[in-house]
Amino acid sequence: MLSDSEQCIIGFQHLPSSGLRNVNGSIPFVDRVEELRKLMKWVEEGFYPVLFIYGPEGCGKTRLLRELVSRIVDRDDCLAIYIDAQEVVDPKRAIYVSRDVLDIVADIVSSLVQPVGKALAVYRVARILAERRARGKHVVIAIDDVAKPLGPDIVESYAKKLLDLVEELESMGASSVFIVATSSEGASIKVLARHNYVSLTMVWNLDPESFESLLNVLKAPTHLRERIYELLGGNPRLAIELAKRRWRIDELLEEVRTRIAATLLDFVYEYREELAEVVENVDKLTKYPTIAKTLLETNLVIPVVRPCLGYTPPPSKDLGIGRYYAWQAPAYMHVLRELLQST
Ligand SMILES: Nc1ncnc2c1ncn2[C@@H]1O[C@H](COP(=O)(O)OP(=O)(O)O)[C@@H](O)[C@H]1O
Ligand SMILES: [Mg+2]
Repeated sequence: MLSDSEQCIIGFQHLPSSGLRNVNGSIPFVDRVEELRKLMKWVEEGFYPVLFIYGPEGCGKTRLLRELVSRIVDRDDCLAIYIDAQEVVDPKRAIYVSRDVLDIVADIVSSLVQPVGKALAVYRVARILAERRARGKHVVIAIDDVAKPLGPDIVESYAKKLLDLVEELESMGASSVFIVATSSEGASIKVLARHNYVSLTMVWNLDPESFESLLNVLKAPTHLRERIYELLGGNPRLAIELAKRRWRIDELLEEVRTRIAATLLDFVYEYREELAEVVENVDKLTKYPTIAKTLLETNLVIPVVRPCLGYTPPPSKDLGIGRYYAWQAPAYMHVLRELLQST
C-alpha cells in the first residue's frame, strides 16, 4: 500500500467532485446533458453488456467519462474507477477512483507504465474489488482509450473478458454494475460491432448551440464563428487548439494539410478518382472498402451509428456527415479536396 506522498509522487490522486476546475483545468464543461443523464441512469440501474463509446478524436469522450466519475466518486453507495489506458504524459490523469479503493488501484496500476498494461490491469483491479469491496455498491468501471494500445485483434477478446467481469461483479453482490470503455479507432469499432457482448454507442462533436457556448468561453472572435463551425464541426479539441493559435484558422488548416500529406500523399495519388467522389459524398466509402479502411485507420473518417448517445448529427453535405460515415471534422474533407485539386 502506498503512502499519500508516494501516491503523489507517482501521480495518482483522488480528486474531489466539487468544482469543474478539479476535473479539467479551467475550461468549464458545456452541455452533454442528455449523455450524462443516460450514463447516470446506468450507474443506478447497471448496464448489460459492456458499453463501448466511440466518436471522433477530440469530441469529448475522455471529458465525458471524467465528468461522470466526478459525479459519483464521493458517493458512499458507489465504487467508481476510471483508468486512462493511453495517458502516459501526465500520470496524474491516468486514474481517478473512489477513495476506498484508491489503495488497491494505485498498487496495481502503479507498476504499469505501458498503455497495454494499464488496459489489462482492469481485470485484476475488478477481480479484487469483486471479492472485497463491491457488495451492495453501484460499481462503475470506466476504461478510456483502450483500442489504441490493444489494437483491433486484441480489443475483441478484451471486451469479452470485460463482460465476464460484469457477470462476476454481479454474482459477488454488487447492487449494479456498469462497465464503459471508449475508443476513437474506427477500425476497432468495426471489429466490436460484430459481437453481442458489446453495446456500441457514439458520442458526436458538440451540437451548434453548445459549440457556440464553448466558443464564448474561449472568447472566439464573433466574425469568425460561422467559419469555425463550418471547419471544425463542433469538435472541442480543435476549437481549443485554434484558440491556442489565436484563431489563426489558416495556420490550423496548414497543420492539417501537413499531417494528411505526410501520411497519405501516395494514397491520394493512387486513389485520386475515388477520393474525388468521397470528398463530395462520404457515404461513397461504402463502395470503396480499401479507401474506407485507410481513412478509418488514419482517423479522418468514422462510421456513424444513429441515434448517438446524445446529440445526433443529421446528414449534412457541407459538414461531411453522411448516413453511414462522417469526416471526424469537416476541415479534413476540405483539406483533402484541396489536395486533390492541387495534385
Ligand atoms: N463538453 C465539453 N465542454 C468543455 N470542454 C470540453 C467538452 N468536451 C471536451 N472538452 C475539451 O476538449 C478537449 C478534447 O476532449 P477529450 O475528452 O480529450 O476528447 P476525446 O477523449 O474524445 O479525444 C479537452 O480539452 C476537453 O476538456
Ligand atoms: Mg480521450
